[in-house]
Amino acid sequence: MAKAKQKDDQQLIRIFDTTLRDGEQAPGNSMNIEEKLRIAKQLQKMNVDVIEAGFPIASDGDFEAVKLVAQTIKGPQIAGLCRSSEKDIDRAWDALKYAGEKGRIHTFIATSDIHMKYKLQMEPAKVLAAAVKAVKRAASYTPNVEFSCEDAVRTRLPFLAEVVEAVIAAGATTVNIPDTVGYTIPFEYFDIIKYLKDNVPNIDQAIISVHCHNDLGLSVANSISAVMAGARQVECTINGIGERAGNCSLEEFVMTLRTRHDILPFTTAVDTTQLTPASRLLSNITGIMVQPNKAIVGANAFAHEAGIHQHGVLMEKSTYEIMTPESVGLSANALVLGKHSGRHAFKKRLAELGHELDDEKLDRAFERFKTLADLKKEVFDEDLDAIVIDETREDVKYKLGHITVTCGSFAVATATVQLEINGTPVRTAELGDGPVDATLKAIKKLTKTKAKLMQYNVGSITGGTDALGEVTVRVAEGSHTVVGKGSSTDIIEASAKAYIHALNRLNYKQTRMPESL
Ligand code: KIV
Ligand code: ZN
Repeated sequence: MAKAKQKDDQQLIRIFDTTLRDGEQAPGNSMNIEEKLRIAKQLQKMNVDVIEAGFPIASDGDFEAVKLVAQTIKGPQIAGLCRSSEKDIDRAWDALKYAGEKGRIHTFIATSDIHMKYKLQMEPAKVLAAAVKAVKRAASYTPNVEFSCEDAVRTRLPFLAEVVEAVIAAGATTVNIPDTVGYTIPFEYFDIIKYLKDNVPNIDQAIISVHCHNDLGLSVANSISAVMAGARQVECTINGIGERAGNCSLEEFVMTLRTRHDILPFTTAVDTTQLTPASRLLSNITGIMVQPNKAIVGANAFAHEAGIHQHGVLMEKSTYEIMTPESVGLSANALVLGKHSGRHAFKKRLAELGHELDDEKLDRAFERFKTLADLKKEVFDEDLDAIVIDETREDVKYKLGHITVTCGSFAVATATVQLEINGTPVRTAELGDGPVDATLKAIKKLTKTKAKLMQYNVGSITGGTDALGEVTVRVAEGSHTVVGKGSSTDIIEASAKAYIHALNRLNYKQTRMPESL
């Protein structure tokens, strides 16, 4: 019995989610503190092992978010990233200490020749000494210390082994071997992990972690290869978001282990039915949708179009389905609520979709649902997601009041828009090249924004002419890019909401996250 348990532990792959840190670093993915907490709660529900909540020294906003997640989340460990400097480590622990023994300090330094020479401008011996010093400092706060050799894949192997051995001796309990630039390929990565297992005498005293970027589209394959060589923690993100081409996608990695358990005898503790709610929640918060053919969580991942496929699936699902939609939390019964549904059913369905709302927000969302249910016969999960995201935004500088638009084939489009700016009502009218242009121009004038509208997309959340229209905009100013989303059965109103959402997010970013590391 004890032996079986030991074997299970040896085959258990810890899931370290870095959606809120590496994921959030990517353009357009920034989240405010309340949004980060919502994602963290969903990760808790999904039962990941570690949540990397941010980079506390990067900004006051990041610090506060890590602290709040450390104070609130129960179950998963909470990690905070820091460079190998005393100031970074002390700041990280100040935020993480609220998680007690579940707080993990994650410190790193680059070890490849190219990074040491050009970025750090440090000799290898100095880098080694800084790594050891950092780990000792972190270990003085907590025994839960992770050390990452940034750009490990392009590091000379004997030096990599030397650093890994030294940081384990200094107190690191997890050592991460990242493919920072998404450069490796599966068999090469296997050999790197194997080399460390064979050449680092104290390697068994730490868990080997891997962290793969997706620049060549190989991050999931590389992570699996590393696990086969002995890695027991995989760092990943929901929807694979992250720097440049992103990180290893959590849902793809977890479902690969589950679906191919016949030849990959590893397990994770993840509740896979929470994968789809997590993916949707993240997309709704950031405004960045996954491509329709994305594995596991794309809109078409379980859609069978070709007649021959449909026929096969009707006869026997496993002809074309290697996993069930239910196993990833995709509801077989997409239609959920109608105008006779009560508040209780509404609340229950929202919770299943990953939205835990306090009473005040629930009231607002329920009121909006009732209005929508009156307009539309059928209300789908996607409609509910959109309503909740629209109705639960907080700390907003700009609020939409009213819009009146006149337009037509012979009329010059005119929009009169009323907003509240920090609680004060303001109003103006603008002409435009169509009603959307006129509306956005009026908002631009009232907010005096200098931000550039980079992208404007309109789509419908579900089918039918009564569907909720959904508008996504991307705006940029200086080094900040944000995405805004709005939904309404009226496309002009959805456009105004999306633009205002983006301007609020930009304002949050400019005031709370001025620096970018
Ligand atoms: O990609 C990387 O190397 C990282 C480390 C800081 C873990 O994100
Ligand atoms: Zn990374």
